[in-house]
Amino acid sequence: MDRIKITGGAQLNGKIPISGAKNAALPLMIASLLTPYTLELENVPRLADVQTLLRILANHGVDYAVNGKRPGERAETGQTLRLTAASIVDTTAPYELVSKMRAGFWVLAPLLARMGSARVSLPGGCAIGTRPVDLLIMALERLGAVIEIEAGYVVAKAPRGLKGAEIEFPKVTVGGTHTALMGAVMADGTSVIHNAAQEPEVEDLVRCLIAMGGRIEGAGSPTITVHGVAALSGARHAVLPDRIETGTYAMAVAMTGGDVLLEDARPDLLQSALDAIIESGAEVSVTNEGVRVRRNGRSLMPVNVTTNPFPGFPTDLQAQFMALMSHADGTSVIRETIFENRFMHVQELARLGARIRLDGDAAYVDGVERLKGAPVMATDLRASVSLVIGGLAAEGETLINRVYHLDRGFEALELKLSRCGAQIERLSA
Ligand code: UD1
Repeated sequence: MDRIKITGGAQLNGKIPISGAKNAALPLMIASLLTPYTLELENVPRLADVQTLLRILANHGVDYAVNGKRPGERAETGQTLRLTAASIVDTTAPYELVSKMRAGFWVLAPLLARMGSARVSLPGGCAIGTRPVDLLIMALERLGAVIEIEAGYVVAKAPRGLKGAEIEFPKVTVGGTHTALMGAVMADGTSVIHNAAQEPEVEDLVRCLIAMGGRIEGAGSPTITVHGVAALSGARHAVLPDRIETGTYAMAVAMTGGDVLLEDARPDLLQSALDAIIESGAEVSVTNEGVRVRRNGRSLMPVNVTTNPFPGFPTDLQAQFMALMSHADGTSVIRETIFENRFMHVQELARLGARIRLDGDAAYVDGVERLKGAPVMATDLRASVSLVIGGLAAEGETLINRVYHLDRGFEALELKLSRCGAQIERLSA
């Protein structure tokens, strides 16, 4: 298994190109199941999760082509995928594939919408809490589906098609909102989604569905109205930039000091995280090319944050911010309100010398002047990158084991960081 070796202490200086958002690319790819025509997606990141989803989609009969590089394109330029589900050959998404990645479960809604039945394994993915799918099932039941759980599979049927309905989510769910949208877009009649997720990736999916002929209003607000259409066409759509990758590198620069331009980053996608970084003492400025982050000399101030649905502080940046705060001059409190078990990075950061106390949904982080390199273990996708941030600032060598978690969500991580002066390399097993 590959490992990543970091020799800490170097400042980061230069430019980091921001990739397309993983969490937008995945539902967009899944939307290709809704139409027999070609969906062309640009700026898709090269990630293990994208590959896994291509395997899942291919199993349902989706033909795909990946455009090769054009002259002058950089190594990290996003890829263009052409996805065509001319016919669906299999409506079962098997355990072997869905267990690798939770978002694979989201194929349920488009398969059901298009074919009238689907059988999808209950999901796997990051071990960051129980992560049930009850609300996704509830949304489809509201649309008229009959759903049963059989031997670890969700079996859904709607022989006479889905019907427009009011769907009220008792709590904000991104996957639930994607599911409701893909179920409602070709349903008979109008649906209203209440307490919808306002995450930018939901808006990106809606933009694409509209380009495919969907009639949807209100994306980005808590109430989304979907007027069902009989069929969808193909479309061309560019994936929006990854706000979690942007925030991660911004926090890395705040941690090590230096001056980095995050190319193509969109500050409006992560204002709450940028505000916390600014409060910690780094400078953040917006240019035509992206977001520039600098910290020179000043010590880091402690900042309290609480994770919340968008536009709140994202749970997917909580681990990275904790790494940053472990080096601050004082104590900060970090509260996790989205996932109950999302503190697995705490014991690994402690191996680097961080002082963190857990109490329910709160982590009390006493900043230390120096972190020290150590062997650590990546436990989930975002937790593992918090160890990279810790390692970049720690004295000496940090060896990160189980880096396949990083490959699921961070494109060309070592390349992007080493170009900015980090001493980071992958040791292949
Ligand atoms: C998505 C993101 C993930 C991010 C999360 C929250 C993708 C591929 N993943 O995950 O990176 O951390 O949003 O921003 O986009 N819940 C239920 N019942 C359900 C569904 C969810 O109780 O049926 C709960 C979850 O346990 C959690 C909360 O709702 O406490 C939010 O989860 P949700 O927004 O659904 O997360 P995902 O869509 O899985």
